[in-house]
Amino acid sequence: MPSSVHDVLIIGSGAAGLSLALRIADHARVAVLSKTALTETNTLYAQGGISAVLDADDTIESHIQDTLNAGAGLCDPDIVRLVVSQGKECIDWLLERGVPFTAADAENGGHHLHLTREGGHTHRRVVHAADATGRAVEISLAQHVRNHPNIDLFEYHNAIDLITEKKVGRDGNRVLGAYVLDTHDNKVKTLRARVVVLATGGASKVYLYTSNPDIATGDGIAMAWRAGACIANMEFIQFHPTCLYHPHARSFLISEAVRGEGGKLVLPDGSPFMHRFDSREELAPRDIVARAIDHEMKRLGVDCVYLDISHKPSDFIKSHFPTIYARCLELNIDITSQAIPVVPAAHYTCGGVQTDRHARTDVPGLYAVGETACTGLHGANRMASNSLLECLAFAKLAAEDIIRALPEIPPPPDLPEWDESQVTDSDEEVVVAHNWDEIRRFMWDYVGIVRTNKRLQRALRRVELLKQEIAEYYGNFRVTSDLLELRNLVIVAELIIRSALVRKESRGLHFTLDYPRTNDDEPPRNTVICP
Ligand code: FAD
Ligand code: SIN
Repeated sequence: MPSSVHDVLIIGSGAAGLSLALRIADHARVAVLSKTALTETNTLYAQGGISAVLDADDTIESHIQDTLNAGAGLCDPDIVRLVVSQGKECIDWLLERGVPFTAADAENGGHHLHLTREGGHTHRRVVHAADATGRAVEISLAQHVRNHPNIDLFEYHNAIDLITEKKVGRDGNRVLGAYVLDTHDNKVKTLRARVVVLATGGASKVYLYTSNPDIATGDGIAMAWRAGACIANMEFIQFHPTCLYHPHARSFLISEAVRGEGGKLVLPDGSPFMHRFDSREELAPRDIVARAIDHEMKRLGVDCVYLDISHKPSDFIKSHFPTIYARCLELNIDITSQAIPVVPAAHYTCGGVQTDRHARTDVPGLYAVGETACTGLHGANRMASNSLLECLAFAKLAAEDIIRALPEIPPPPDLPEWDESQVTDSDEEVVVAHNWDEIRRFMWDYVGIVRTNKRLQRALRRVELLKQEIAEYYGNFRVTSDLLELRNLVIVAELIIRSALVRKESRGLHFTLDYPRTNDDEPPRNTVICP
């Protein structure tokens, strides 16, 4: 297989990867990889919006304080300030690239964009494109990337592993490129680069029920781990309180903006319950709302609760939430007159590859941006709409650092090609399918919204067994996308379980019945696991 060389290899084509590519491409030759189609990303499905201080009555200090409150003592205050301060620049940058955000109406503090509200925010500060913000961002950026002469796109290319100096028997551990499975013909290519960036998104597919599309298998976290990078705060998995509950609806989110615009959570008998859990009711941070729903579902033995916005005028609902209205109507739920059945589901990976304020990891030449990274912004619980902001802000910071660093970095050396001499085609694909299901099921049952030591230990025993089985399978058979993802999922599962076992307290998204209180006797600590 031919080996190609770029200045910068970006693995991932969501908001983080595409905005980074566009910020670098006037200065360097860039390759962008996506596992499937270019726009099939978590970004594409983002609904609520992007948080940014634009309203005349809002302040950077207030956005910082809300983010710190949601993060339950674990946010890095310097990083929060760094990111929040860039909100306006990031929105202006997207507007310059033609992203069609919803315009303001009269009520909106003088700014020309409409701002909605979501949990944890004390002001209206969420810029959005109706209820399909991610689609508007992703499609606009993809158009620019496709037209840029300095960007080579590799769609349907699944990165298998990073190549580092250590892995090819050289001194040091600088990253030199990646082995990549071209899923058009199932051949493995060697892509060489002076700098590699992981923009591979989150890992919520490790849970049976998730709001995420199939690509979210934590590949970047697992690849970074195998390459020697430290991974932080993996116990903080965010469960979104309101995913549509319907036998024919897979992974469909009901945006927090529905609650932001007045939607009420109710039990099957129509009675509200959030007031019993938090004075902020429906707009409490997500960890609190998801746990309240989980508690009520278990208490009453019901399959779901309901989100009701039908008291708002029908035109208001249809214009603010056209995607949600249309999808629910396809399933015979008219949200202008009926409550929506909802359940919590795994939504966002707050932890990830540990990075510094330039998005650098511990592996020289390797950066991580977007959901795959743990930057310190989210702490123990991400506030709504801070993720897309983080993708855009850190893409900018990483781009600046990479452009500065590139002149000093030599081109990568020749690298050994992928060796398939010891493997054959699999005759037992059922093992892969079975192990996929098993991991996702026990992660949901034992490592979910409410945890205990006993459940975590049970999950750990299973993960250890599966790890051996998968390693053996990987050693004997030719790689496929399913196998590669499974090999990554099992590492992510192990990192989540081990991190959860380390934390002997409940904080933010990590809640355990064995230590139900937050430990305020000591300064809060990140959970960092290094290979
Ligand atoms: P993604 O957009 O997930 O992109 C990951 C990319 O990596 C994809 O191109 C994928 O193909 C590629 N990739 C992965 N592994 C490999 C591999 N091995 N080889 C090659 N390529 C690979 N956040 C907000 O701030 N506001 C919102 O309103 C909001 N709403 C959301 C709604 C939903 C339903 C979901 C699921 C998430 C939402 N989020 C929201 C979270 C936010 O969308 C994500 O955190 C963010 O889009 C992540 O962007 P990213 O660029 O890091 O990764
Ligand atoms: C939503 O629209 O509820 C998702 C927002 C987010 O995850 O930030």
